[in-house]
Amino acid sequence: MRTMTPAELVLMRKAGQITRDALNYAETLIKPGLSTYDLDKMVEKFIIDCGAIPSFLNYEGYPASICASVNAMVVHGIPSKDVTLREGDIISIDVGAIYKGYNGDAARTFPVGKIAPEKARLIEVTKNCFFEGIKNLKVGHRLGELSHAIQVYAESNGYSVVRELVGHGIGKKMHEPPSIPNYGKVTDGPIVVDNCCLAIEPMINMGRKEVWLLEDGWGVVTRDGKPSAHYENTVLVTKDGVEILTL
Ligand code: MF3
Ligand code: CO
Repeated sequence: MRTMTPAELVLMRKAGQITRDALNYAETLIKPGLSTYDLDKMVEKFIIDCGAIPSFLNYEGYPASICASVNAMVVHGIPSKDVTLREGDIISIDVGAIYKGYNGDAARTFPVGKIAPEKARLIEVTKNCFFEGIKNLKVGHRLGELSHAIQVYAESNGYSVVRELVGHGIGKKMHEPPSIPNYGKVTDGPIVVDNCCLAIEPMINMGRKEVWLLEDGWGVVTRDGKPSAHYENTVLVTKDGVEILTL
């Protein structure tokens, strides 16, 4: 975690706006019958047309520009012609864009058509986890205050927090220190510095917290097969508060 310069923050804001726009564009495309392969190709073109680089493509060998994770898939779903959205599904879409060397990273879980009320509540609580978390994200305070707040909010709503995947610092690289768990004690983690950029990303399971890694080496799914949701924004933390760069 480091203090960024005003010139860097201009580029972080721009990267964040492109990332947000790409997610909003993805949302407009969602409908039963769409393959996650086609969704990836369209969002990839959108990012490039914005003058940015899709950061996920070829990242440690990742083969696509978005992650498209349906129902029990937590994160890192590789888009596929064999995965077609159906009414009642939920899909978590994660997007990253690099603009003039600076990264934006964000994710949302969207409904496909009409969904069960339990799934809608999971999406809502996961989003609220992010906002409860950032209420506790303050310069001069420990990052654990955010982590703890997310865990308490998720568990008090009857859900569980994935342990294996975490948020992260972000800037010239998509993943910078520190790692930011969505669980823990208020005394955990480093002290937050002024003008730092972080990706905060609760991944919340309707059932148990345990996950499996798929044989493709990327996809992460819940062990109990119950649905999972993801909500991520890149944020800037200053003495004046938290600015959400991807909203
Ligand atoms: N938003 C994801 C994260 O923070 C990035 C997806 S991983 C990739 O871990 F390999 F697909 F890029
Ligand atoms: Co991220």
